Amino acid sequence: MKYQTQRLAYPYFIAAMGLFLLQVIGGLISGIIYVFPNFLSVILPFNIIRMIHINALIVWLLMGFFGATYYLLPEETETEIYSPKLAWIQFWLFLFAAVAAVVGYLFHIHEGREFLEQPTWIKVVIVIVALMFLYNISMTMLRGKRTVIAMILTMGLWGLALFFLFAFYDPANLALDKLYWWYTIHLWVEGVWELILAAILGFLLIKLTGIDREVIEKWIYIIIGLTLFSGILGTGHHYYWIGTPHYWQWIGSIFGALEVFPFLAMVIFSFYVVKKSSRNHPNKAALLWVLGCTVLSFFGAGIWGFMHTLAPINYYTHGTQFTAAHAHLAFFGAYVMINLAIITYAMPHLRGQQPYNQTLNIWSFWIMTSGMVFMTFALTAAGILQTHLERVLGMDYMDVQSQIALFYWMRLGAGIVVVAAVFLFVYAIFSKGKGEQATAA
Ligand code: HEM
Ligand code: HEM
Ligand SMILES: [Fe+2]
Repeated sequence: MKYQTQRLAYPYFIAAMGLFLLQVIGGLISGIIYVFPNFLSVILPFNIIRMIHINALIVWLLMGFFGATYYLLPEETETEIYSPKLAWIQFWLFLFAAVAAVVGYLFHIHEGREFLEQPTWIKVVIVIVALMFLYNISMTMLRGKRTVIAMILTMGLWGLALFFLFAFYDPANLALDKLYWWYTIHLWVEGVWELILAAILGFLLIKLTGIDREVIEKWIYIIIGLTLFSGILGTGHHYYWIGTPHYWQWIGSIFGALEVFPFLAMVIFSFYVVKKSSRNHPNKAALLWVLGCTVLSFFGAGIWGFMHTLAPINYYTHGTQFTAAHAHLAFFGAYVMINLAIITYAMPHLRGQQPYNQTLNIWSFWIMTSGMVFMTFALTAAGILQTHLERVLGMDYMDVQSQIALFYWMRLGAGIVVVAAVFLFVYAIFSKGKGEQATAA
């Protein structure tokens, strides 16, 4: 590691991995409740554990983004992080907020809107954490070299904080409530988070392949151009049936369909760069996560997103298991995998450890991705059947649920495999290595 302050990433990555475990175990319990409805029904009802599952997801992804930023920014800007002390305070405050939220959920202290269930005071703490972070990285940027990667990353992180502010606006009118809720939810994952994704991807590809920075920068411009052009108006694909004007069906369908292209560009970009590369970097596992990320996000977000983005199709599939299939593969492919990629890359540096467990890490890649892909197929089949029986034939909701129970068992099976793979990943990055060298320049 060239810069001392890159080490700030370490606590963030550790906390991220702890919450990752909590997240998937929460998913597993939710999956068990789907097939045994009374499982833990008194102490841990479905709505509570589902909330823990998806909130822990968001928080650990954010922990990962913060860590990734502290890791890559010094190298990009060629200067140390402005205030390491502030970064530490930010870390403990954020961890405290996350733990307080989860404990609160266990005692049924929460608000109503999906993903934004944190009580208001915790939302305020999150904003303070974000401001500390943005101040710190912006000051670092001002002091150092402003590369395209650093600029795009910072832009994405500012956007992330900005759109979170809509979480405070909760109009009583349900149509307005939904309208603004999507400003946070959609404009995050199909807007500003994609900038963060592209920046981390660019950084990793430079390190792992040794390709010229100019080539990477050109691609990043294309990707963020496509993202912002399609993603902002693409929000319309959530405005079809909530009481908004009819024209959203056209806008959402057209721009929603275009949202496939930034993800397509990322696949082509990563494979092109790897093919042209001159460097044979020893950290094969990190490269595998990078390529896996672009491929699975293309399928999960791009293809699975496209399949229900057109209004005439969404009319039937809206809010079915198909949505859950898309949600799982998109979040996993894009944001889980980019985090696991940078953690896999950075960990041997952060721990100063040579060699490390590369083979185990690669195993966890294949087991985890197979598990998530299988889960996606099971939910997709469930979603298609549900759409047909419920929305086309008009069968009763609960009758349909019993018809598709088999797929919930398959989801549970896949979930067990995923959880096992997550444990393996955590073991591979934290245990004492006995395998291959993993770091080069
Ligand atoms: C890293 C992997 C995972 C990611 C990124 C993820 C993400 C998500 C997301 C975004 C939702 C909300 C879905 C929606 O609103 O449509 C969700 C719900 C859910 N997830 Fe996961 N999840 C993961 C792993 C798991 C695992 C291992 C299981 C185990 C079976 C699981 C089971 C569930 C269940 C049962 C729900 C509730 C679905 C419902 O309300 O009908 N997830 N997950
Ligand atoms: C990595 C990027 C993406 C992530 C993480 C993601 C995640 C999600 C999640 C969690 C939901 C469920 C929200 C809820 O109702 O609770 C959702 C819904 C939806 N997504 Fe995505 N998405 C991504 C990209 C895309 C793309 C690129 C498209 C279009 C090509 C798309 C189209 C849709 C549509 C149409 C819905 C609404 C489904 C419904 O009506 O039930 N998504 N997405
Ligand atoms: Fe969306």
